[in-house]
Amino acid sequence: MVRTKLALLLVLLHAAFGSSYRWFNWQFEVTCESDAYIAPHNEAAVAKFLKEQYPKGSHIKVVGNGHGFGNLSTCVDNSLTEKPSYIVSMTNLKGLNIDKKNMTVTFGAGWDVYDLTEELKANDLSFGNLGVERVQNFVGAASTGTHGSGSVIGNIASQIIGLRVLDAQGNLRVINETNNPEELKAFRISLGALGLITEMTIKVQPTLLLKKTTKVVNATSDYTQMGKQLAQLYKDHDRVTVWGPHFDWNEASQNWDLEPTYFYSYWEPTNYTGVRNCTLDYCANGCGDCKREYICYDEVIDAASCPPQGVCDREFYAEIEHFLPIEFYAEAAADYISYQQSQTPRMQAPYNNMMVIQHRSLKGDDAYMSPVNTYNLGSDLSGVFAIIEIDWIQTYNNFTTLWQNQELGYEFMAKFGEKYNVRPHWNKMNPPNATYALEKFPKLPEFLAIQQRQDPKCQFVNEFLVEQLGITRCANYLSI
Ligand SMILES: Cc1cc2nc3c(=O)[nH]c(=O)nc-3n(C[C@H](O)[C@H](O)[C@H](O)COP(=O)(O)OP(=O)(O)OC[C@H]3O[C@@H](n4cnc5c(N)ncnc54)[C@H](O)[C@@H]3O)c2cc1C
Ligand SMILES: *[C@@H]1O[C@H](CO)[C@@H](O)[C@H](O)[C@H]1NC(C)=O
Ligand SMILES: *[C@@H]1O[C@H](CO)[C@@H](O)[C@H](O)[C@H]1NC(C)=O
Ligand SMILES: *[C@@H]1O[C@H](CO)[C@@H](O)[C@H](O)[C@H]1NC(C)=O
Ligand SMILES: *[C@@H]1O[C@H](CO)[C@@H](O)[C@H](O)[C@H]1NC(C)=O
Ligand SMILES: *[C@@H]1O[C@H](CO)[C@@H](O)[C@H](O)[C@H]1NC(C)=O
Ligand SMILES: *[C@@H]1O[C@H](CO)[C@@H](O)[C@H](O)[C@H]1NC(C)=O
Ligand SMILES: *[C@@H]1O[C@H](CO)[C@@H](O)[C@H](O)[C@H]1NC(C)=O
Ligand SMILES: *[C@@H]1O[C@H](CO)[C@@H](O)[C@H](O)[C@H]1NC(C)=O
Repeated sequence: MVRTKLALLLVLLHAAFGSSYRWFNWQFEVTCESDAYIAPHNEAAVAKFLKEQYPKGSHIKVVGNGHGFGNLSTCVDNSLTEKPSYIVSMTNLKGLNIDKKNMTVTFGAGWDVYDLTEELKANDLSFGNLGVERVQNFVGAASTGTHGSGSVIGNIASQIIGLRVLDAQGNLRVINETNNPEELKAFRISLGALGLITEMTIKVQPTLLLKKTTKVVNATSDYTQMGKQLAQLYKDHDRVTVWGPHFDWNEASQNWDLEPTYFYSYWEPTNYTGVRNCTLDYCANGCGDCKREYICYDEVIDAASCPPQGVCDREFYAEIEHFLPIEFYAEAAADYISYQQSQTPRMQAPYNNMMVIQHRSLKGDDAYMSPVNTYNLGSDLSGVFAIIEIDWIQTYNNFTTLWQNQELGYEFMAKFGEKYNVRPHWNKMNPPNATYALEKFPKLPEFLAIQQRQDPKCQFVNEFLVEQLGITRCANYLSI
């Protein structure tokens, strides 16, 4: 009787603690089987977990909301290793302290971007920069260099002035602008490789009201001409996003038809006092009838990025997103489109629907792994970057098409990387190799030295990190 009860208890315990957990990214093409999903209730519990796992050398992948592409955030699949493999989420770390005097906010790593923006708005505070969507975990977004558009604003990570991070042995480090500012440059964009961040402090700004103006322009198949027009828009406006040109798949001709028009939006300060109305119109995210001229006014958060309600499109898409010095913009934009056109005959998979090109700009910075790091720029360059994104959107969520289009997407880096000093967006599907990474991220050796200190047994790495960053000491991470 006692034995039966014990057996039953063990089964229940196994169901509660020992069951495996399959992780997926947002569009379900990246996945891994872990031994469990761990979501500790506070920093001390995270530290305790790490201390327990260190002797076993368990694989540990800390995740945000999985809103990425490619294998950066995936765990070590437990079919590949004898050691335990865990997905760890900070979702329960929800502390929050708003310091209006110093204009800083300190928050637990569990905060999602959307919830944090709502909290700031309620306190008449705001962010300097956000991506087009707010679905990410804040630390997850910052850790890969998530950004919006603006030649005078940096990415999300550039707002970070301090953080608390646990290493593989569960030891805490506090890194901030007064206490080790140099290391802060490594930890701002840490790719999940330097430890489990439990808390962040960021600079915030007062509410900023912006006027958003959207204009429609005629497209031209003279891409050199188009590139020049585009580059001019970035000279005319500090903060602008160009959505286009757009192409539609023509089933009959098996070709991309250029849509006759595309649009761009720019943002500027305003003294407007009327009703704030940008959230009445979600075209910031390509939803609805966006190709029309309109203006709206709102707080920068709502004027420049989209709340979850505004996310209308969830078909699979393959994409590239590249950062390059803005001085090369006109020529690169033309080259990218021409090269895409040359790939079209190879886009034989069915279910192609739309191809959207998005152009943005961003101020450079000194985070070691920032895609817009200025470490290898000559003095002739301004330190502002252009961003070219191409999205190949499908009519139907079919993996064959997704992967085939993505394979073609990888060719852009080989083709243009050296020519335009191109850096890829981390957590999108365009990894460079380690040789290339070292060239574009000159501080990579310093980053890897900190990685070794934080993670001596290679518990935080996965195949992506080992291969793309060239972490050679972790080559045998599955068995060591
Ligand atoms: C539809 C869509 C739209 C997007 N739009 C934009 C955009 O406009 N601009 C832009 O720049 N990007 C954009 N992105 C990319 C997105 O912002 C990044 O991929 C971001 O990293 C996702 O955050 P996450 O928390 O969802 O990701 P996750 O993949 O879960 O995490 C990202 C990284 O952070 C690490 N991490 C998470 N939490 C911690 C922690 N507590 N401590 C240490 N490391 C941690 C993870 O290990 C991982 O390496 C978009 C992505 C999608 C899918
Ligand atoms: C991601 O990992 C999976 C599983 O190992 C692999 O099949 C796939 O090719 C990888 N993707 C990339 C882009 O490397
Ligand atoms: C606020 O700023 C002041 C002056 O720089 C500093 O002394 C103080 O420690 C800061 N407070 C916090 C909570 O960071
Ligand atoms: C920076 O970290 C140190 C060490 O923990 C701490 O004493 C100091 O208050 C922190 N500074 C700020 C501005 O938070
Ligand atoms: C755009 O094209 C339309 C129709 O082809 C034309 O009427 C209009 O004048 C053009 N606009 C510009 C700014 O060239
Ligand atoms: C807003 O008003 C102030 C004070 O009148 C003025 O200095 C400023 O130029 C105005 N800003 C804009 C964008 O109109
Ligand atoms: C927002 O309000 C302004 C001022 O009333 C108006 O001119 C504009 O057309 C409105 N925009 C939208 C998208 O409703
Ligand atoms: C995806 O498309 C390919 C090519 O048409 C087809 O062979 C495959 O069955 C499709 N997969 C699904 C799940 O529909
Ligand atoms: C690394 O990638 C770059 C850019 O795609 C390419 O030019 C180079 O040949 C690659 N190097 C190796 C060693 O694969």
